[in-house]
Amino acid sequence: NWTNSAIIDEQVEAIRAQVGDKRVLCALSGGVDSSVAAALVHKAVGDQLTCVFVDHGLLRAGEAEQVEKDYAQLTGIDVRTVDVSEQFLTALKGVTDPEEKRKIIGREFIRTFEAAARGIAEEQGIDFLVQGTLYPDVVESGGGTGTANIKSHHNVGGLPDDLQFDLVEPLRTLFKDEVRAIGLELGLPEAMVWRHPFPGPGLGIRIVGEVTRERLDILKAADAIARAELTAAGLDRSVWQFPVVLLADVRSVGVQGDGRTYGHPVVLRPVSSEDAMTADWSRLPYELLAKISTRITNEVADINRVVLDVTSKPPGTIEWE
Ligand code: XMP
Repeated sequence: NWTNSAIIDEQVEAIRAQVGDKRVLCALSGGVDSSVAAALVHKAVGDQLTCVFVDHGLLRAGEAEQVEKDYAQLTGIDVRTVDVSEQFLTALKGVTDPEEKRKIIGREFIRTFEAAARGIAEEQGIDFLVQGTLYPDVVESGGGTGTANIKSHHNVGGLPDDLQFDLVEPLRTLFKDEVRAIGLELGLPEAMVWRHPFPGPGLGIRIVGEVTRERLDILKAADAIARAELTAAGLDRSVWQFPVVLLADVRSVGVQGDGRTYGHPVVLRPVSSEDAMTADWSRLPYELLAKISTRITNEVADINRVVLDVTSKPPGTIEWE
């Protein structure tokens, strides 16, 4: 597509002019914006770019692997994965309050990224930090230089003074649909480019109750089934987000084979929205809902009930926490 390759050329040119022969750092989240921003910078300045991927264990099934293996291999970007899932679980132990979870996850994220950035700075120097700021973010923040996505995404303060870098923001003039088009043009996988918005605290705020490894595994399995069936039905793009929520402290009685079960429910929360400010529950086909329910209860031990959230926003929020 001519328009997209023109935008790419223009951004590549601008990045080269800004960065010169200096070094650039980028935090990958697994989301569309940081993936496309990093791919653009890499196209512009190649191995002057280093990426850090903080694997906190709260992404959906397969997403961490997609970033560190598929994305890294496809783009040739130097992606340093920091596996801190154990550290995050320890920090979250016993915590049930949603805002407390957010604070802890944000704090641990910044701590981890900071340590990684320091290591890379010592090793090879860092001059710039890539941010996947989009045009609507720029407008919202009054047009000043980019507010760090790392901050807003994780609801925390950001990096200390000695780790402040000039920002490279290759998506600053673009809308989300343009970012997606460019991502495809750059050869990124459809599944990555069309990924639904996902909260910074990840599955940590989709387990109502304490976050444990066992519960995360249950939720990831149920979530993967819902996602796969939505995709198979060809409805990914008609749904804004499709959270699956584990009610970890609720149990209900079920029956399976000739045995009584006492398992957990999961909530399906598919929503339609333009901007997440307001939302309506998606009228997914009954057949699809039935299939998701059957598969989850058959395939995920400990889940014996699947319920559908039919609340709009307001009064409900999209997430349960
Ligand atoms: P709610 O649940 O408030 O969510 O209707 C609105 C949008 O924001 C996302 N969300 C978050 N994103 N950090 C984020 O980066 C968060 O703590 C957070 N909480 C909610 C949510 O997925 C939806 O897109």
